[in-house]
Amino acid sequence: MDRLRRTRMNPNLRSLVRETYVRADDFIYPLFVKPGEGIKTEVASMPGVYQMSLDEILKECEVLQALGIYSILLFGIPAVKDSVGSDALCDHGIIATAVRAIKRSFPKMFVVTDLCFCEYTDHGHCGILDHVHETVDNDLTLSISGQQALVHARAGADMIAPSGMMDGIITTLRDALDVGGYVNLPIMSYSTKFASGYYGPFRDVAESVPSFGDRSTYQMDPANRREAIRESLLDEHQGADILMVKPALAYLDIIRDIREASNLPLAVYNVSGEYAMLKHAGNAGLIDYNRVMMETMIGFKRAGADIIISYHAKEVAGLL
Ligand code: PBG
Ligand code: ZN
Repeated sequence: MDRLRRTRMNPNLRSLVRETYVRADDFIYPLFVKPGEGIKTEVASMPGVYQMSLDEILKECEVLQALGIYSILLFGIPAVKDSVGSDALCDHGIIATAVRAIKRSFPKMFVVTDLCFCEYTDHGHCGILDHVHETVDNDLTLSISGQQALVHARAGADMIAPSGMMDGIITTLRDALDVGGYVNLPIMSYSTKFASGYYGPFRDVAESVPSFGDRSTYQMDPANRREAIRESLLDEHQGADILMVKPALAYLDIIRDIREASNLPLAVYNVSGEYAMLKHAGNAGLIDYNRVMMETMIGFKRAGADIIISYHAKEVAGLL
C-alpha cells in the first residue's frame, strides 16, 4: 500500500523532503519617505507600517539589516504635488534625496525605486492627464518617464521599478538609461498589475487616491488570464530584467502561468490590503498570525515567485 505518511513521521525527514523555502533574502521591504524630521506616522489601516522622514528611514535601514533584509522598495511622498508630478523629475526631490542619503549611510542596501507619478500628481493618477482630463495620456507620460528614471539613476538607485502600467514604458526607460550611461542598471517591471481593491490602504499611506475615476484604463482586468501573460511577455521583450505579478493572493494562478511562460526572475507584490487583512485578523485573535503569514509566504514561493515584496518582511525575517 502507498504510505505517503512514511516521509512525515520524522522532523529531519520532513526537512529533507521539503520542496519550498522562504529566506530573508527573498524579500524586498517597502518604505515610504516624506519630507521633514522626526516623523514616523503609523498608517491606521496598516498597523506596523509608517510614513517616515529621512532620519527615521535611516534608523529603519539599520533595523532591517540587523534582521538580514538588504533590499528595500522606496516610495516618495513629496511636500508639493502638481499636475505633472514635478517633484519626481527633480534631482533634489524627495526620492532622489532619500536614495542619496540611504546609499551614503548604507552602501550595502539594495535600493529599488518605485517609478510612477501617482504619489507626485495633485490628481493622484499614474501619469499626465489627457486633454479632456478623463484618464492618463499614455504617450505624454512616457515622454517624461525617462527623466524620472535618470533622476533615480543619478541618485544611486540600484534598480528601477516602474509601477504605472504605461504601454511601452520598458522600451522608454531602457533607452533613457542606456543613453544616459546606465546600461547595467536593471529594471523590475510591475509587468502584470491588476486594477485591484487590495491597494486601498496603500493609497492612504502614499497619499495617492485618484481625485476622480479609477485606474482601470491602465491597470488590468482581474478576469483576464491570457492578457496577464501577454502583459508580462511584452515587458520581457522590451528588456525588463525582472517581471512582477501584483497583487498576490488572488492571483497565484497568474504567478504560476508567468513562471511557466517566461524564464525571467519573477517577483510578487503582497500588497497593502493583503497585509491589512492578516494584520487585523491577527490582532482580533481570529487567526494565528505568524502561522498564517508564513503559510502565505510559502504559497507565493510554491506558486513560482523568486522575490516577495511584502510589508510582512521584517516579521518573517524575525521568525526565520
Ligand atoms: C502606484 C502603486 C500602487 C502600489 C504600488 N505602486 C497602487 C496603485 O496602483 O494604486 C500598491 C501597493 C500596495 O497596495 O501595497 N503605481
Ligand atoms: Zn502610480
